Amino acid sequence: MKKHNFNAGPSILPREVIEDTAKAVLDFNGSGLSLMEISHRAKDFQPVVDEAVALFKELLNIPEGYSVLFLGGGASLEFCMIPFNFLEKKAAYLNTGVWAKKAMKEAKGFGEVVEVASSAESTYTYIPKDYTIPADADYFHITTNNTIYGTELKEDLNVNVPMIADMSSDIFSRSIDVSKYICIYGGAQKNLAPAGVTFVIVKNDALGKVSRYIPTMLNYQTHIDGGSMFNTPPVLPIYSAMLTLRWIKAQGGVKEMERRAIEKADMLYAEIDRNKMFVGTAAKEDRSRMNICFVMSPEYKELEADFQKFATERGMVGIKGHRSVGGFRASCYNAMPKESVQALIDCMQEFEKLH
Ligand SMILES: Cc1ncc(COP(=O)(O)O)c(C=O)c1O
Repeated sequence: MKKHNFNAGPSILPREVIEDTAKAVLDFNGSGLSLMEISHRAKDFQPVVDEAVALFKELLNIPEGYSVLFLGGGASLEFCMIPFNFLEKKAAYLNTGVWAKKAMKEAKGFGEVVEVASSAESTYTYIPKDYTIPADADYFHITTNNTIYGTELKEDLNVNVPMIADMSSDIFSRSIDVSKYICIYGGAQKNLAPAGVTFVIVKNDALGKVSRYIPTMLNYQTHIDGGSMFNTPPVLPIYSAMLTLRWIKAQGGVKEMERRAIEKADMLYAEIDRNKMFVGTAAKEDRSRMNICFVMSPEYKELEADFQKFATERGMVGIKGHRSVGGFRASCYNAMPKESVQALIDCMQEFEKLH
């Protein structure tokens, strides 16, 4: 049976990225060696990193003066590297969920942290809009897509201080104005690569402004100077990321990813809004295109496990909501074909007919 992979992350990747990674695992560039057994300093690997960086810059239209890094540690390590490198006195954070809170918690060890607004009181079903950012904040931190709750900031904000964004789950799904940010980061295991690599886009001249000692490995400058090769980088996920970036370019770039994301999300939200058995959980204006969250309508609440089983039997994978919110979550990342979204919609319609 065909599987439709709605996993929230690690998640669906383009089929050819998986196939070409598999080929390189068996024989990298006709070298007779596996991608897993070559040195990251092998002459054939440097071009992979160079191409990945170049494609990052090209696809996201990154201006001069920014570096692109591929690191280990996940987005979670960035929660701590961000304040280490950028927080001198005060930082502002928008609390839009678990990941934003975790980022904020790390920052508290480095200086004053101002939570400018929070939607915790409504289980993060919306993104706060009215707040004031202290003008003397070193940066304003946002999580553009809240993977667990299915809310998304789909446009770059205009604010009075430099922005830093966790874009783990919506990078490359829309055009962004990188010049508004001093740092953009994320775990790559959703729209880019298998787990194991973290991407960081950093504005070079925003560094070097804090007075504290920064441990070597946690200092962005170390990795800029080392071209992401200060230590052994995650070779295999970087290779897959490079292949995904080639794929995005061949498909028509970020604009095309955005067009597809809107199309898929519109299809599924239309069904959620039409079908009497389901309700969307996120505020309409903040609905994520990447993670589409819904629950059973109150009158059908007791059928949640039945629908889960019904959908699983029809090939749907990973639609169970995050353990902290329940219900369902269909993650529709870049590599998710429209046909899979349609298969889920068909499933919802069939289930409705039965009740
Ligand atoms: C928005 C967001 N930020 C951060 C993380 C944590 O990423 P990692 O597991 O790479 O540390 C996740 C993981 O799902 C996420 O969705």
